[in-house]
Amino acid sequence: MEFTAIILAGGQGTRMKSPLPKVLHPVAGQPMISRVVQTCREAGITEIRVVVGHQSNLVNTVLEPMGVKACLQEKQLGTANAVQSVDLSTLNSDVIIMNGDHPLITSSDIKNFISDFKEQKLDLAVVSVELPDAGSFGRIVRKNDRLQSIVEAKDASADTLKIKEVNTGIYVVKAEVLKKYIPQIKNNNANQEFYLTDLIDLAIQNNLKVNALLSKNTDVAHGVNSQIELADATKKVFLRKAQQLMQAGVIFIDPHTAYVEETVIVGPGSVVYPNVFLRGHTALGAFVVVESNCFISDCIVGDSTHIKAGSYLEQTIVKNKSSVGPYARLRPGTVIEEEAHVGNFVEMKKVVFGKRSKAGHLTYLGDAEIGEDVNIGCGTITCNYAADKKKYKTVIGDRVFVGSDSQLIAPVTVESDAIIASGTTVTKNVPAGALTLARSPQVNKEGYAQKFKKKTE
Ligand code: UD1
Ligand code: CA
Repeated sequence: MEFTAIILAGGQGTRMKSPLPKVLHPVAGQPMISRVVQTCREAGITEIRVVVGHQSNLVNTVLEPMGVKACLQEKQLGTANAVQSVDLSTLNSDVIIMNGDHPLITSSDIKNFISDFKEQKLDLAVVSVELPDAGSFGRIVRKNDRLQSIVEAKDASADTLKIKEVNTGIYVVKAEVLKKYIPQIKNNNANQEFYLTDLIDLAIQNNLKVNALLSKNTDVAHGVNSQIELADATKKVFLRKAQQLMQAGVIFIDPHTAYVEETVIVGPGSVVYPNVFLRGHTALGAFVVVESNCFISDCIVGDSTHIKAGSYLEQTIVKNKSSVGPYARLRPGTVIEEEAHVGNFVEMKKVVFGKRSKAGHLTYLGDAEIGEDVNIGCGTITCNYAADKKKYKTVIGDRVFVGSDSQLIAPVTVESDAIIASGTTVTKNVPAGALTLARSPQVNKEGYAQKFKKKTE
């Protein structure tokens, strides 16, 4: 789109009471500023300039990887001064100005504002909303319905404060209007700041076409100035996502306590229990069940898979019809093949776990390749980390039976159809079909228990 976005993000955010710059606070997993930038891009805007100031080094760490131009405002002298720091002389398209701390704006909001601006052939538009409690927002003052000026709450009379129509801080404006009038704004107000809102007065005085575009979506005015407003915004984004998914046939037991990030895909017929986190680039197929207190980050989960309560999965692929948990931990690089079963208190890291294989209880498998139809007994450990501080691999063939409480000292290979007897420490490779036993023979001393007890009484 032949539009430039100027995003104001130079302010300090004192009321956040946080060492993190305000615009880096995440809303549903994504820093506010990258959210606003991404929304602009979704609306088709490619030229984006972000005004940074307070803790600009930190804010730049997020902007740089996004390929966004950061413009430094040396001192936070007000919103008009902020706009001036983007080097207006280099602007070559009309502009939408937004706040970096209004994370709920959507790409369709942006498109609507721009198309209204174009349709009404305006020189300058400000987006307004009506709020029952207008608080510290600038008030939209109209005379005979026509926009007259914006008065900051701090500078407003008691009567003006009663006005419910407020300035969202979003403006659409012609490039030449910005270039000409921003330098003319003065700081004679309660705050001694250069107010961007004064652009309205200047434009009206100079007979330009100015209007306030009243938006029905009050979310565009949802600014984040405190931790409470941040939590409110986060809640809204999660609820919005849950509602979209419900419209596509996903079942939520309680959409108010499901935390599905916007980047996540969930197939129809899947069920999300309360207190579930689905994060990042996670994709769930159809008919997946995710029970309470699961945390699933950057995972692919196939159809008809059941993730039971309290499981923690990162960068893992779980294929169709498998079951995981309760209380399983699957760490990065793990692939669970179809119809496999991973039970309670099982941890895996960098494991390929074959079709229909089972690890039912209390097991650590790391750096391992495990075939099909394998049974991993309770308490099995792959000892992958050696005293030389290197990681080694365990390979287990198809249909192997690993008895309970076995350790496999890597690097080691157990070929297909072998049986590892319970309590074995496997230190050497096991050939196909072998029975491997490595435990000290049992000694029974008849009647000794009673003797022993007497001695110790
Ligand atoms: C501003 C508007 C007010 C509107 C409100 C909507 C002015 C004078 N007032 O007030 O009418 O109702 O937004 O939220 O514009 N910023 C800078 N540099 C500065 C000052 C601010 O980059 O020197 C940035 C802030 O980081 C923030 C945005 O500009 O993202 C708005 O600034 P803020 O101080 O929050 O303005 P408000 O007082 O809320
Ligand atoms: Ca604000």
